[in-house]
Amino acid sequence: MDPILDLGSRYNLSVIEDACQAHGAEYFSAREHRWRRAGSMGQAAAFSFYPGKNLGACGEAGAVTTNDETLAREVGMLRDHGQSSKYYHAVEGYNGRLDAIQAGILRIKLQHLTHWNEQRRRSAKRYDELFAPMAGSVRVPYQPAWSKPVYHLYVIHTPYRDELQKHLTEAGIGTGIHYPIPVHLQAAYAELGWKRGDFPVSEDAADQLLSLPMFPGLRSEDQRRVVEAVAEFASVRSTG
Ligand SMILES: Cc1ncc(COP(=O)(O)O)c(C=O)c1O
Repeated sequence: MDPILDLGSRYNLSVIEDACQAHGAEYFSAREHRWRRAGSMGQAAAFSFYPGKNLGACGEAGAVTTNDETLAREVGMLRDHGQSSKYYHAVEGYNGRLDAIQAGILRIKLQHLTHWNEQRRRSAKRYDELFAPMAGSVRVPYQPAWSKPVYHLYVIHTPYRDELQKHLTEAGIGTGIHYPIPVHLQAAYAELGWKRGDFPVSEDAADQLLSLPMFPGLRSEDQRRVVEAVAEFASVRSTG
């Protein structure tokens, strides 16, 4: 984040963090010589509380964090039909209010977030160890020394992603792809004129990523079964 924040201040740009998968994740700022939490570094940040997230509601929910009081007021208005006070619409807004019942659920679940994140980190470490002998065929997440991720997902890279996903599905193992179509190839942004080949790193990621089972409470024997199924696929592929 240091280089991104530097760019922001050099060109007078606002930095908005997408912290939707990063509740509790930390970044070591060399500039400030301290660990900083995701969602606290930019001018504002967005958190998703979609049910599957590390901190998930029982329905749709999310939050914006910021230290900027003016921005907080504006975001508060946007989520409430643009009202600055009851019946006074200062700007055009929409209904993005968090249900009280969702807030109540999140408040209880927040107490468990640190523990759940620890469980995810332990599971990620276990996957790393189990995949170590397959380093040539499966790329596991890279964890730089300046990051403490919270493993919303455990994502491997393989050029045989679609075949591997099919193999795992047949073995009764659920997987996901986050995400299969990069932003520049989405119909919503077609008018920008980007085409396949313009962002090769994003495109390779979209073609090769596979998210393996990851949630607090994932059992080590289930992780072993997942990795064995991946190894089985790799050995059939190399002999077939
Ligand atoms: C990185 C990232 N950003 C934004 C979103 C959008 O979150 P929501 O659907 O809660 O608005 C998601 C949801 O999956 C996400 O993973």
